[in-house]
Amino acid sequence: MKRHLLSIEDLDRDDIEAVLETAVEMHDIQHRDVKKLPTLRGRTIINLFFEDSTRTRGSFEVAGKWMSADTINITGKGSSTSKGESLRDTVMTIAAMGADCLIVRHSASGAARQVSQWVDAVVINAGDGTHEHPTQALLDAYTMRARLGDLAGRRVAIVGDLLHSRVARSNLLCLRTLGAQVTLVGPPTLMPAGIAAWAAADGFATSYDLDEVIASGPDVLMMLRVQRERMSGGFFPSEQEYAATFGLSRRRLAALLAANREALVAHPGPMNRGLEISSDAADAAPSVILDQVSAGVAVRMSVLYHLLAGSGAAAGSGTPGGTPTRAGATR
Ligand code: NCD
Repeated sequence: MKRHLLSIEDLDRDDIEAVLETAVEMHDIQHRDVKKLPTLRGRTIINLFFEDSTRTRGSFEVAGKWMSADTINITGKGSSTSKGESLRDTVMTIAAMGADCLIVRHSASGAARQVSQWVDAVVINAGDGTHEHPTQALLDAYTMRARLGDLAGRRVAIVGDLLHSRVARSNLLCLRTLGAQVTLVGPPTLMPAGIAAWAAADGFATSYDLDEVIASGPDVLMMLRVQRERMSGGFFPSEQEYAATFGLSRRRLAALLAANREALVAHPGPMNRGLEISSDAADAAPSVILDQVSAGVAVRMSVLYHLLAGSGAAAGSGTPGGTPTRAGATR
């Protein structure tokens, strides 16, 4: 495995399999009375979040704590960046404190890679602009595999604001690597430019017609948040029109289950209820939305384990803390 996790492309298929397998062991910890492994004792992990987050930041913090690391949160709003300090100065300052791992979320695509070039610490991309969100794709794959088994040949439709979605990009790469068939569904205004050529080259499908895709009975319908904070102009006529054309309504959920009664509904959160997904659909039995959150902790524990703990330690046994290796020593 590479030193940093900046993109899903940093992981080959074996790496993804290894992360997902270790996550299964890590998931058991969530159901224990004492949620603690000594694996990352003595390591310092800094969550450096320049964009809002509930799930990603919370689960990275819990993951680090359950593995006995010292975890610290720094957010853009409460830090000296709000006094005008540059990203580089903030990052160098934090690195100088002796952090072993920086988990970075930033509104600029490429920010995590830039940070990795400035510091010795391991860097994990927790979402960079519209570019990538690799741990989200890993936890989504974990959630799907827990329900569906091997994803090879499984059909996953990713629906909505594709243009602004780092989740869609990372999921596309991860799911393709695991052999799933992916269809990206959304209005033309919310599809990245040149997507037809990209789809043809990489072997995935695109569609502007959600009802048609639903009627084909996909195994997973992954709804994306409409990312208003990244929209400068009008990308669709009105919210009502968007919900009517691309929202997962009760009617569409029924059509999905009629076409494939085992189909799952996913959403990375946070949801705009009533826009891209109705409350009926979000809370219905096929929804794995809270499973995704739960998997987020296990998968992030696994990623921290693989990047920071060194090899030769058993993940689930609680024994790996004995002789910690320096971060990076085994890569
Ligand atoms: C996503 C993100 O921040 O990219 N959320 C998340 O990490 N769970 C998706 C989103 O904000 O819509």
